[in-house]
Amino acid sequence: MKKIIHMSDWHIGYRAFDKRMDVVIDNLIIEKGDRAGQYVIVITGDLVNNARQENCFQTVKRGLDQLDEAGFKHILVVPGNHDYGTGNKGSKKFVEIFQQTFFGREIDFPKKDIIDDVAFLGLDSMSAELNWYDDIFAEGEIGKHQLQVLEQLLHAKDVNKCRKRIIYLHHHPFKWRPFHQLKDSRKLKKILTQAMAGGISIDALLFGHNHQGHAHHGQWGIERCYDAGTATLKPRPSFVKWSPWFTISSSTRVMDLSQDPRQDYILNLL
Ligand SMILES: [Fe+2]
Repeated sequence: MKKIIHMSDWHIGYRAFDKRMDVVIDNLIIEKGDRAGQYVIVITGDLVNNARQENCFQTVKRGLDQLDEAGFKHILVVPGNHDYGTGNKGSKKFVEIFQQTFFGREIDFPKKDIIDDVAFLGLDSMSAELNWYDDIFAEGEIGKHQLQVLEQLLHAKDVNKCRKRIIYLHHHPFKWRPFHQLKDSRKLKKILTQAMAGGISIDALLFGHNHQGHAHHGQWGIERCYDAGTATLKPRPSFVKWSPWFTISSSTRVMDLSQDPRQDYILNLL
């Protein structure tokens, strides 16, 4: 079973963050490159800072290609609010750009990848958040269709027979923060807790968005729950930095699902 490197919120395009990305990637390759094949990298959104900015997606793609060339053959991404627009104001046209850039084609979420007996189910927590009336805040919504398919996937034979199941998305599913919450988190909770009650384990829930990098183990009965923080240390605006809600941290974690979560650790890449 492969180990997982969970990172998030690169925000490439903000200031000279392309240089920070290079440092993070170089250090990851120095740290793990000779064993790259042992890992799956999961990046939970906000790869770019503003989808409207020219070439930002190509810069991130260059970074992911560098990781691929170094032997990290499994890199899973989901979009965040900044990947479909400015962070508040999103546009449906970026859905295709994001998917073509990172998947080489258009896909439907949830995105299912089965790697060495582990099912990774990626959710697009922006797909139902791209209406004109969603343009003010940085909230997220998975949407009815995606939740229905998620429920079906969890009960499908191939996912069900995996030893472990991981759900990953951008928006923070539990911690309420004004104008940033996942609107349908209660519906997600219901699907996951019902699956677990039926004997289908949910072994990790991975997300980003809050930039805080905290662990929330045990929420909804899930053993591993991680916010990966911001790998490039994207700061909050100075007028909110004083608030404990807005402290940031780079919390790129390595986890081995066959081990106790206390064995998980944070990589220092910047
Ligand atoms: Fe972010």
